[in-house]
Amino acid sequence: MEGLKHQAIGVLNGNWKDEVGFSIPCANLYPFQWFWDSGLIAIGFAHFDMEKAEREIKTLLDTQWGNGFIPHIIFHTESDTYFPGPDFHRSDLHPESSKKYRSTGMTQPPVTGFVLEEIYRIAKDKSAALNFIESVIDKVYFNHQYFYENRDPQNEGLVYIYHNWESGTDNSPIWDDIWDTMNPPEYTFERRDTTHVDASERPSKREYDHYLHIIDIAKDHNYSDEKIAELSPFLVQDPLFNAMLIKSNESLMKLYVLLGHDEAKIQQLKKWQEKAVMSFNKKLFDNELGAYVHYDLRNERPLRFLSSSSFAPLYAGIPNPDRAASMVKIMLEKFGAEHQYLCASFDPDSERFNPKKYWRGPVWVNLNWMLYNGLKAYNYNEVAERVKKDTISIIENNGFYEYFDSRKEMHKNGNAGYGGNNFSWSAALLIDLLER
Ligand code: DGY
Repeated sequence: MEGLKHQAIGVLNGNWKDEVGFSIPCANLYPFQWFWDSGLIAIGFAHFDMEKAEREIKTLLDTQWGNGFIPHIIFHTESDTYFPGPDFHRSDLHPESSKKYRSTGMTQPPVTGFVLEEIYRIAKDKSAALNFIESVIDKVYFNHQYFYENRDPQNEGLVYIYHNWESGTDNSPIWDDIWDTMNPPEYTFERRDTTHVDASERPSKREYDHYLHIIDIAKDHNYSDEKIAELSPFLVQDPLFNAMLIKSNESLMKLYVLLGHDEAKIQQLKKWQEKAVMSFNKKLFDNELGAYVHYDLRNERPLRFLSSSSFAPLYAGIPNPDRAASMVKIMLEKFGAEHQYLCASFDPDSERFNPKKYWRGPVWVNLNWMLYNGLKAYNYNEVAERVKKDTISIIENNGFYEYFDSRKEMHKNGNAGYGGNNFSWSAALLIDLLER
């Protein structure tokens, strides 16, 4: 395993941009800084280069807007290998956007809180790690405050996302039901992603029309949260996104206690957390499916599909032991057949399942890492070990790809890795898994 770890370190160092202090997810396909990538990448760096881990997070938090918002892509450099770039997104339209960085006007799963806790866990020099955490933690808190004050119109403790790119699971089949409610114009644009990666592994042109149209609606209102809540055709309470926020709340509380101050913030976090966990369990658990599902806030209906996001709440300690047991049973029955690697990103029994296409079926290392940790926390050690073993095997067989075919039979020739190669979070989280 030392060889594999060594390769992973090479991938991370290769994607590091020292002049600015951040990592690209991978060359060409993703040439900027992405919010949740950055957080997960820092976990990998923390194992062998704490300075880079800290700089990664510092740069990310430096891009925070005046209202606490942190964008999903920060365009640190010029690049013509990616569409849509800064001139399409126009973050400057928002009155409180960063004057220093050009970015998108949408966000991504809020991983930063639990990433700080991971950095503390991994650090050999705990007091240096705490000093670092002390210097950034209030920004993460401010980000959570932004979410609860601006993204929860019905005051439920659950925040919405207004774009599929905010979910991180960009083209999940779950969104198909929302695309059915829309009829966006046909945009003329030049895709860049499909010049780097086979089109069969990426979203379709028509899907991109929807993606761009939602951004145009938000831009028409200068990215006002209020207007977005009122008008965006995409408004979803996502179990993965909310689980990340809840997990990060928990981490912030623990870290503030360690730092020995900010009782008021700890109390506020507790309040957010109690409400969030209660609503999450009440609203997002689907008894019939036996796991958590997305809720379409625009059309007031649950989106009743199983995906790897359905199991992510295990990582945040959200289900009680009975629910956790039902989730693990469903995961093994539906996603865990002998011929499948754990864990496909979408229900393998569904006719919408596609094991090659981005978030419509392939296995992703970041979700597997969360599942591994969640299963361990609920004492499902055997299943956790299977997730870990599967993750290591798919990388060993194919390389550090962005996502992987879930069907074992496809892995015989070492070409079942798809999307970008030398992908940062696949390397970062593999390092962390190997260390456990
Ligand atoms: C892409 O361009 O596909 C990115 O994942 C958006 O975040």
